[in-house]
Amino acid sequence: MSQNLPEPASPQPNSRYISIGNLVNWKQVDQGIIAQNEIAQIKITVVKDGMVRVQSSRNESFDSNPYSVISGTETVDLSIEEIDQKIHIKSTLIHLQFDLSNGVCSFFDSKGNLLNKDDSLGISWIGTEVTCYKEIQPNEKFIGLGEKTGNLNRFGSAYVNWNTDYFAYGIADDPLYMSIPFYIGTHTKGSYGIYFDNSHKTVFNFGASTDRFVYFNAEDGDMDYYFIHAPSVAEIISSYTSLTGRMKMPPKWALGFQQCRYSYYPDKEVFALANTFRDKDIPADVIYLDIHHMSHYKVFTFDGKKFPDPKSMIARLKELGFRVVVIMDPGIKKEPGYLPYEEGKSEDLFVKYPDGKDYIAQVWPGWCAFPDFTKEKTRTWWGEKMEFYAQTGVDGYWADMNEPASWGQFTPNLIEFDVDGNPASHRKARNVYGMQMARAAQEGALLQNPEKRPFVLTRSGFAGVQRFAAAWTGDNQSTEHHMLAGVRLINSLGLSGISFSGFDVGGFAGEASKSLFARWMSIGAFTPLYRAHSMINSKDAEPWAFGEEVEEISRNYLKLRYKLLPTIYSKMQESTQNGLPVSSSLAISFAQDERIYASAFQNQYLFCDTFLVAPVESTKAITKVYLPESSWYYLFTDEFHSGKNTIYQDCPLAYLPVYVKGGSIFTCQSDLPHTGAPHDGILQVHVYAGKENGSFNHYEDDGESWDFEKGQFHKRMLSYDSMQETLTMDTPTGEYPGDFSEMKIYFHGFANETVELAGRQEKLKFENFSFLGRLSEFDPLPDHETRFFEIKALPYLSIKYPDKKLIIKGLKSIN
Ligand code: NOJ
Repeated sequence: MSQNLPEPASPQPNSRYISIGNLVNWKQVDQGIIAQNEIAQIKITVVKDGMVRVQSSRNESFDSNPYSVISGTETVDLSIEEIDQKIHIKSTLIHLQFDLSNGVCSFFDSKGNLLNKDDSLGISWIGTEVTCYKEIQPNEKFIGLGEKTGNLNRFGSAYVNWNTDYFAYGIADDPLYMSIPFYIGTHTKGSYGIYFDNSHKTVFNFGASTDRFVYFNAEDGDMDYYFIHAPSVAEIISSYTSLTGRMKMPPKWALGFQQCRYSYYPDKEVFALANTFRDKDIPADVIYLDIHHMSHYKVFTFDGKKFPDPKSMIARLKELGFRVVVIMDPGIKKEPGYLPYEEGKSEDLFVKYPDGKDYIAQVWPGWCAFPDFTKEKTRTWWGEKMEFYAQTGVDGYWADMNEPASWGQFTPNLIEFDVDGNPASHRKARNVYGMQMARAAQEGALLQNPEKRPFVLTRSGFAGVQRFAAAWTGDNQSTEHHMLAGVRLINSLGLSGISFSGFDVGGFAGEASKSLFARWMSIGAFTPLYRAHSMINSKDAEPWAFGEEVEEISRNYLKLRYKLLPTIYSKMQESTQNGLPVSSSLAISFAQDERIYASAFQNQYLFCDTFLVAPVESTKAITKVYLPESSWYYLFTDEFHSGKNTIYQDCPLAYLPVYVKGGSIFTCQSDLPHTGAPHDGILQVHVYAGKENGSFNHYEDDGESWDFEKGQFHKRMLSYDSMQETLTMDTPTGEYPGDFSEMKIYFHGFANETVELAGRQEKLKFENFSFLGRLSEFDPLPDHETRFFEIKALPYLSIKYPDKKLIIKGLKSIN
């Protein structure tokens, strides 16, 4: 045995938990403090009213994520003083106590209510892994965290943020494609949000396998989180989106129906598809070209056999009112002579190993190099390449496989990314890669077509991706459970700043039953992104592929969707301003109502702040619905229900349980084959009686240019005052002339036969009104009766579209 063996290494101190410990040295910095000891430094700054940033690092300088936070620090009034080893940082909405003996932060509201407090384990490290442990407040609920499966209330579960290509994921599986490390805690003393701004692999444990604490940690990088407090959950989301950004106004056509399949080809099949929509009077706006449009799956190519003349194909589709969205995968085939590969190599645009060799992995085209989207030069190049699609008339871009995905599903961590001049390994860059691809796609669309609002759909993303793209929830399955889980995913994305999202209607993997497809189409009509998609080698899955009845049900909901577009468009515009979702979990408005978290009710949500949608399996004929505080009208008959009430609702396949909130106002138009087609010029205004006041900001513009930014919009506040018994339509603002010449006002839940208008009593007219058409009696058998719901004798008033302020008085609520 050799005598010269080295001494065995002594156990590394950092293989065990090490806490930040006692901090004696601290000093005041701009809007906060910095404290330090031999273990770590911690910096606490008040970023703006209701937002505090806590950064802690074992290094000399802080390591930040350059991609998510876009707003700087605002000057606020605050006081900082040390009392008994505790530093008190008081600003208007948050009072923070920082304990110098152990680094524990306690967050109070201005009245002294404890909102959130670190466990005494505080901020700590195990090796490079950094964790913040938090006490659980009595009866605390945890909501949000973006694209995560599981329950609305995440208490008892843990999640990993590591963007993953997950074909046919299960409804409890994790992680999926997108990571948004932002959650909201809510309990009787108040609500707060925590955004952990670290793009490494992170874990959020909301009390799984422990009764002691909740925690969030990252495998490397700093503890760097923003604590957000505001009086309501909605304001917390608004504040979070003021930090990470909000979606840009999408083109109106992107809110129409989108039909996808893996894949539609050749061009003849695409025409057949487009013509079938029109022949069958089924509204739709978008057709997708999935990967088979390419030659050997090479991005920026068309397969010349399948699509010999894409430009004239797209022009013909446009004549039919269709837009084409094309898929873009990041993998660039490693093929000498293929220009994108050659350029990427010669211009140094690809992701590399530390020794400078290109990272090569397999995706659809075979062995591929991967553009480094964290490099400005690469993003610009990608945008320039998009000219290939833009010159054929493509209108939208679908960024897929951008986790990035590769066969084997295990990207080696040593590969390196530019991270805009601060090179980092895959460990830091993976989670932001997809978002930077979405950014390149958006910038490219703008470069190619500066006058038009881009539409980009992305699968992968990170906090802030809402600025660049809409999101969809990837490869779901054609099952009832997936349909409901998809609703929770959308609502969770909405809680996390992503307002424009959807799921594959009908399910991607597998084949939907007739009833499942019909129900999914009806739910999809009430989601921001309404897109059907299906897998290669599966049966056809277009609205007419499931028989006559499903076709009629689908047509009904598609028509309803197009009728509701004035409302959906207005709410999307509002969301660009306040960051609030269009599909809102009930936890936003009713956070303190225990019932909404119950498994029977957690899928319910408010669409456009107005429609309570209770998604239900297609196999159920009756369901329980919980109607929270307020009053509610069953959409299809105006049946009235008081709030805080559980009801049993018949839910025949043709009727999704949807309720309108009392006091609401929304606007509708006549149904259309596509968003570019003219309507009948009548704006329907639906106003619902209620004890609460309601308002609706109706918004119009040209639907696709940026002229609204120069004042070319038409915006009009409509408000209902239950005490004053009035409906007020403010004078419109903006220079866009508006699309409507008449107005038809429907009064739901009112006892009026007349209303007062400009000092005169106007007689109301009455009609039977239905939001959905009557289904055909297909089956001659007597027990197969199709039901038809309508609102009997609904009072309405038809007037010229008012160009000035108008008040309608004397509205008498029935209930
Ligand atoms: C994976 C995507 O999630 C799916 O929607 C698409 O159809 C396939 N890639 C093929 O491009």
